[in-house]
Amino acid sequence: MADSFMAQWVYTDTVKDHFMNPRNLWKDGEAFDPDGVGEVGSLACGDQMRVGIKVSDGRISDLRWLTYGCASAIASTSMMSEMAIGMTLEEAYHLTPSMITDALGGLPEHKFHCSVLGDKALRAAIDDYLQRNGMENPYKGTTAKIICECKGVTDHMIEDLVKSGKVRTFEDLQRETGAATGCGKCRERLLEEINECLHIYGL
Ligand code: FES
Repeated sequence: MADSFMAQWVYTDTVKDHFMNPRNLWKDGEAFDPDGVGEVGSLACGDQMRVGIKVSDGRISDLRWLTYGCASAIASTSMMSEMAIGMTLEEAYHLTPSMITDALGGLPEHKFHCSVLGDKALRAAIDDYLQRNGMENPYKGTTAKIICECKGVTDHMIEDLVKSGKVRTFEDLQRETGAATGCGKCRERLLEEINECLHIYGL
């Protein structure tokens, strides 16, 4: 019965498996003492994610996660957790949503954005670990994508500006960075990036 019900879902078998049997869940009452914790999203948006990591010899030795999210968010974070354990911090910092969705055999187009929470929370946990240990973050900036070439505005700059409260609208971003004041071809992508960040951080 459950088989024929699930057969109608537009998810791959790997997605269904990770959704039904999520790996490395942070269970209530579990004695897991993380070396770094990252949280993104908000309950208001229906997506909230917490990732905790243990670090040993510069590698992620263990990881737990909790999410209040949809099937895609659960499956992609479960997959992310399996991929990240054993990675160096640098490798884990460069895990992308595409790598996770590829490993899942793909996600429906309109569900792709659900997969960005896991890797963002993982990066936040690594940031937290480095900060707790008084270490510079050597990876920050190495994952940034330039969105406005004329003004050198990257996705990380936009994320930081949205998180700090300086940017809520396209006009705010133009004022802060001068983005889209050259050829203007980046306008659509800038708007998408702002909206994505507002959504992810529940703003
Ligand atoms: S690419 Fe942004 S103004 Fe030209």
